[in-house]
Amino acid sequence: MTNHITVLLEEATQALLIKKGNWYIDATFGKGGHTQKILDAGGKVIAFDFDHQAIEYGNKIFASEINPGNLILIRENFSKIFPIIESLQEDCQVGDIKGILFDFGTSTEQLKSNNRGFSFDGDGPLDMRMDDRLGVQAKDLLALIHVDQLDELFRDLGGEHDSRRIAKAIKNSPTPITTSKQLTDLIIRNKGKQKSKLHPATKVFQALRIAVNTELENIMMGLPQALEILANKGRIVTIAFHEGEDREVKTTFKLWEEENKGENLTKKPVVPTAEEIKNNPRSRSAKMRIFKKK
Ligand SMILES: C[S@@+](CC[C@H](N)C(=O)[O-])C[C@H]1O[C@@H](n2cnc3c(N)ncnc32)[C@H](O)[C@@H]1O
Repeated sequence: MTNHITVLLEEATQALLIKKGNWYIDATFGKGGHTQKILDAGGKVIAFDFDHQAIEYGNKIFASEINPGNLILIRENFSKIFPIIESLQEDCQVGDIKGILFDFGTSTEQLKSNNRGFSFDGDGPLDMRMDDRLGVQAKDLLALIHVDQLDELFRDLGGEHDSRRIAKAIKNSPTPITTSKQLTDLIIRNKGKQKSKLHPATKVFQALRIAVNTELENIMMGLPQALEILANKGRIVTIAFHEGEDREVKTTFKLWEEENKGENLTKKPVVPTAEEIKNNPRSRSAKMRIFKKK
């Protein structure tokens, strides 16, 4: 079993300026790497994850922090962060929020899990939902949407150059594409010769995962709510792993600064050191940004 290695652990927790007894939100708990670091520094944490496996793991492994009230774990989409935190504050369960961390995307456990369909080198049902309460799986999207929309989805969310050819091949397939292996094989058959080091199915899988989990919409909804619930002078720290995510954060922070809501502390994003990338190649595309509320 591959374990998730937390990306930009030191950099992200330093950026939050943790103080003993203050409350922080980890909007993307995963395996709790960042949460653990905040707790170690004396902070209290409300952590969100919409994947029930992440929450079950957290409830077990972090019981000694949950029981005394240092950690509140919530299975929910961070796109609902404002009403949830507001109601905890009304009940006096938590105080002012001094910092909020978003470490977007999927965990290694999700990607490598053979029965969830995230991985092009697995052979599981083509599901790809991080939150299994969502109605539409990746295989449903392939079946339901028109060839033009599929083409657009692969191009816009994955940057896939052969999007049209792949979309047509999916729609013309004599049998529905319902497993990750079927999709990977179809992509390999339909892509031109690869110059890149990337696996030929990387971009289509990324695009489908983003669409199934409405990842960009979640960010668009979650960031303004985070700013709203954050205490004055508090910080929002984000870690993005692909262009679409980073563009969303960058544009939002720029807009907030123009609206005089605070200061964008990272004109250029913080990226992992060469050593981190060597130890954890998954970190290579990470870009961290920090916003300080007025
Ligand atoms: C990259 S991992 C986070 C890893 C974590 N920072 C750690 O150190 O272990 C992203 C996690 O966020 C969760 N996630 C992604 N989008 C979410 C959303 N909109 N709401 C709640 N959780 C989300 C995923 O289920 C996944 O477990």
